[in-house]
Amino acid sequence: MPTTAARDSSRATPTRESGAVQTWNGTSAGHKWAIHQGSALEVLKELDSGCVDCIVTSPPYFWLRDYDVEGQIGLEDTVEGYVSALLAIMAEARRVLKRRGVAFLNLGDTYYSGKGKSHGSDAKSKKRRFGLRAVDKSGGLGIGLQRKSLIGIPWRVALALAEDGWVLRSAIIWHRKNGLPEFVRDRPSRTYEYVFMLARNRRYHFKKNELPDKIEEDLWTIRPQPRANGGLSTAPFPDELVKRCLKIGCPVGGVVLDPFVGSGTSVRVALDTGRSGIGIDLNGAFCRHAVRTLKARA
Ligand SMILES: C[S@@+](CC[C@H](N)C(=O)[O-])C[C@H]1O[C@@H](n2cnc3c(N)ncnc32)[C@H](O)[C@@H]1O
Repeated sequence: MPTTAARDSSRATPTRESGAVQTWNGTSAGHKWAIHQGSALEVLKELDSGCVDCIVTSPPYFWLRDYDVEGQIGLEDTVEGYVSALLAIMAEARRVLKRRGVAFLNLGDTYYSGKGKSHGSDAKSKKRRFGLRAVDKSGGLGIGLQRKSLIGIPWRVALALAEDGWVLRSAIIWHRKNGLPEFVRDRPSRTYEYVFMLARNRRYHFKKNELPDKIEEDLWTIRPQPRANGGLSTAPFPDELVKRCLKIGCPVGGVVLDPFVGSGTSVRVALDTGRSGIGIDLNGAFCRHAVRTLKARA
């Protein structure tokens, strides 16, 4: 694997602790994997430039979930703070991509409530933060939002990335067919999220004929799958989503990176489809789950 840690060892048990970063390496059917427990930004800084063919990732959404780990992104006080945290990570991710590399970034949106007080409990998810959240504070989040307004997070991030040097090639709609319905009466329920396709340069690896169905060009209908995340609150994306990204954007035999790997979906699918994988996550329990899954398939 193209990381310092991976050059050190190919054992499938914890191989190294450098500062706060712990790394596990392994091989599965001839393809290598590495899981790094640490901050995406710090771990990415340690990876060699141009060592990755494709990135498939789903960062924490803005104020949607508390991953219970120091240094997590997603709980910034401002939209600007969230966008710049992602920009910094994606700038390092761009450096580690090969010249013809492609990134797929899955993002969902958040509503501004502006209610101004804490609710104390949330029956929908224990992982949602109960205190006064930035999106509940009055003041329009500093960008003049009216209460109940959709913030437009995915496009704010995508446009900032384009201004930062990424080539924004596609805004794929992931239609979450038969997903859990939202209980809202005064607007349509949400049934989709974005998967932005970004290239490092204007010429990049892309296999258009690998799109699964000519009707499904930039609108991908994918049913949620039973969660393969060991009951952890990682908000995994479906295998099918990762498979489609890799088919069109990553050569077989290439190296896939996910800087927010959670339960390890993207690395597992990379190995399943004849590629190598590198995953990063701050949460130790998630990393250990990912490692157990990857070791089990060796
Ligand atoms: C939406 S989840 C990813 C789920 C993943 N796609 C899966 O299939 O399980 C986002 C992940 O980002 C991690 N995370 C949050 N802040 C991070 C940071 N600064 N560096 C690395 N990982 C971070 C969280 O622990 C969480 O696992």
